[in-house]
This record gives sequence, C-alpha cells and structure tokens, in this order.
Amino acid sequence: MRHPRFVSFAEQICHMQCATRENASRRGPFGQKTCLIAAYGDARSVWCCQIPADTACEGNLAVGQRFSLQMPSASVGVSSAWLAGCEQSDALFALLAPSTFYVRPIPERHRIIFYLGHLEAFDWNQVREALQLPAFDAELDHLFSFGIDPAQGLLPSEPPEAWPRREQVEAYARRARLAAAEAFASGHVPEVIQQVCIEHRLEHAETFAYMLHNLAPELKPKAAAPLQTDDSAGPAPRHETVLIPAGWATLGRSQSSPGFGWDNEYDEHSVLVPAFRIDRFKVTNRDYLEFVAAGAAPPHFWLEQNGRWYWRTMFGRVPLPLDWPVYVSHDQAESFAAWKQASLPTEAQFHRAAYGTPEADEGGAERAFPWGNEFTSHDEQGRSTGNFDFAAWDPVPVHATPGGDSAFGVSQLVGNGWEWTATRFAPFPGFGPFSFYPGYSANFFDDSHFVLKGGSARTAAPLLRRSFRNWFRPSYPYLYGAFRCVYPD
Ligand SMILES: [Fe+2]
Repeated sequence: MRHPRFVSFAEQICHMQCATRENASRRGPFGQKTCLIAAYGDARSVWCCQIPADTACEGNLAVGQRFSLQMPSASVGVSSAWLAGCEQSDALFALLAPSTFYVRPIPERHRIIFYLGHLEAFDWNQVREALQLPAFDAELDHLFSFGIDPAQGLLPSEPPEAWPRREQVEAYARRARLAAAEAFASGHVPEVIQQVCIEHRLEHAETFAYMLHNLAPELKPKAAAPLQTDDSAGPAPRHETVLIPAGWATLGRSQSSPGFGWDNEYDEHSVLVPAFRIDRFKVTNRDYLEFVAAGAAPPHFWLEQNGRWYWRTMFGRVPLPLDWPVYVSHDQAESFAAWKQASLPTEAQFHRAAYGTPEADEGGAERAFPWGNEFTSHDEQGRSTGNFDFAAWDPVPVHATPGGDSAFGVSQLVGNGWEWTATRFAPFPGFGPFSFYPGYSANFFDDSHFVLKGGSARTAAPLLRRSFRNWFRPSYPYLYGAFRCVYPD
C-alpha cells in the first residue's frame, strides 16, 4: 500500500543527505526503493538515494514500518527550516579533508570531531527530554551535549585520542538525527523546542565557519567556489559621520511578538538615547592599517609576507582588501576607538542608528531592518541590502550595499560583519531563562562578554532580526567581528 506521508518524509531526509554527499559519485548499491533501509543503515553511501514523489513504495514500507509507526498527521511534520539548517551544517563538514576531524582550529574550542556529534546530540537531547524518550547512547548524548567557552588560561588540552573514533561519531550522529527527525515528525515536540534546535544549528553554521576559516586552505579541498573579490563599489569610501538626533530606541521583543526569540531577547523596553555622531561606514582595513603603522598589533585575519599585507579568506588569501571591514576583537576595536578619541556604540546607540527613523521621533514606528520593515536581499532599485544569509564566504567593501542603509543614512548595520558594542552582555528587565535550556544566556551574564549586533555574510536570515543579540569574550579574535565608532554630538 502506498503511504504518501511516509514517502514525503523520507524524501526530505534523503534529499537533505543527497544534497551534501555528492550523490552521483557516492550512490551506493541501494536503489531508490530501499531508501528506508538506507535511513537506518550504517555505511555512508547508503545515504545517497532519493525517492521520487510518485514511487509506489510497498517494499520500503515493509522495511520502514518502525519509522512510519510514528509518522505525523498530514498537518504536521519535520520543518523545512530544520532540514535546511541540516543542509547548511552538512555542507560545512563536506568541505573538509578527512585529516582535519581531530584538529583544533581555535585553541578556545573543541576539536572538529566534537561538532560532528554536537549538532545532532543537541537536537536529540532536546527532543528526548521534551518527550521523555529513551536514550540509545547516553554516554555520547552527554559527551556531545554542550560546547566550551573557557576563560583565559584555561584552554582545553585533551589529546585527539580522548575522543571516539570518527566512524563511531558518524554512526551516532546519523542515528541521533533520525531519532530527532522522527520525534519532530510525531508532532509532539513543542514549537519552541523545534525553533531552538533550528536556531542553535544556524548559529553553529556561522561559528563553525569561523572555525574552518582558521584551517589552512589545503585542509578544505572541496572549496565551494573561488573568492570573487567585489570591486563593484567604486572609489574608496569617504570617512563621514552621521548625526543621530536624540530619541527613543526599542530593544528586545515583547512576549506578544509573533515568532521565536531567545530568552535574552525578552522583554521589550525603550531607552532614551542622547544625540551622537556615528561612522557612516564600518572601520576598514585601510583605516586600521594606519593604527598598525602607529604600533598596534595586526588583526588575526591579516598575514604579512615580504613586507606586504594579505587577508586570509575562507579558501585562500588576497592582498589586503583596503575597503573591506576590518575584523578584530573587542579589545582591538576599543583600542582603535580610543586612538581616534571616540568610543564603541552602546547597544542602544546601535539600535537608534539602525532602526530609528525621523518619523519615529514624532510618534512613528521604528523599522524592523535598517532598510525597512521587510526582510529582502535587494531594494526596489535592485541594490544589495547587505552581505548576509550565506551570500558569500568573505566580506565585501563597506560601501558595496547601499540598498541596506538605515533611515539616517548609516551603511551596513546588518551584514558584512557583526558589530562590537560597548555593552556588556546582561539580561534585559523581565528576563527569564528557558526551563529546557537554562544556560543558553544565563551562563554568560558574567561581565566577561560583550554584545554584538548586525550579522555577517554567514549569518542566517532568521538571526538578522532586530532583537537578536550575539556575544563573545572581548579578547576573542576569530569571529567575523567588525565595528564602527561613535562621537559625542
Ligand atoms: Fe552548541
């Protein structure tokens, strides 16, 4: 008997895997009709199959009954956003040479093998606890449950042998993903937990990209595409500041806002911000070069060779692109600002510059995005609104996306690099942790992390919402962290 919901679900799973496993070359001995065996198989090649929508799959169902027993009603299922997130994270692992899985590209983080298990363990742990499902490997559920963010001087030092073999981790990850998918498909997982799983994965799609950025290019042999250096922005940007008049900025989101928000985004509240001036553009490599010439240490993303500066791109290096935003730590950004007799914007000043409008000062509404109220990649004139949502692996010039300018004329407040603020990460009034993930934010309310706003080329669209807050330690130089300065009016 044909079972259309089952086929549809299996199709999604198989499509997800095929999209990232180079199915043409890896297509295994399993035909389309044995896809459900594939879903429970162990060999990597069995992932590479696809069920056409019109397949009559009596043979499959016999094998897949245990899978289909918990199939959802027609109205619920595995969200396409979760599957898309899986595709994004799988695509990153697919870039890597086999020899990289036990490398630690960033001293403050785990070895790569951890992330192979973590992305699936996180989702599985969340749905397992929500639905009180039995564990199939409690030890690995625990091992891969959470990442690390050590204070200075407490770097991890365990040897590669401390981790399970890659084959074991892959088998665990496959099983955990399917178990999570099965739970989602049951329709019993609370929506907020599904959203937490989606956004956690999307956040890792970016932080894992930072990590891979630190690997030598030869360790990423499956580079997606060579870097396109964007020189379409024309002459170098002129240094300008923009006056932002005094006015109210709305931070956070209200409990009645539609859609998902993390615990640290609540509650919505207003802050009166005195007038200030802000750089129209992010600080560029050209600007920072002067600071380095004056004796400052070069940013982590720069390389010097034979007296010339280069920028380490995701898949190679290019002569230092002078009009790209400089990526630095908070400490470096703060030092540069002090050198310019300026400071970093507070979180409220950032909101005011990005989302405020002259009309809002007279009782109108602030914007949802700097360029307007709808998320869009291009404005009505066809100009790019920003370098975000996986649009590129590297930055573009700071003046390359004028379609995204804010109402006050400030460029690139969203995209092309997160922006460091002067605000320490702390709860908003009305904060309450998620009971099922109490440490997501609260573990970092320690005065040792600073808020970043905006987003980078590798930030997924849902995370570009106004209320989203990012945070890192001030000395952490590995993220796509840009900045601009503010000046007293
Ligand atoms: Fe995580």
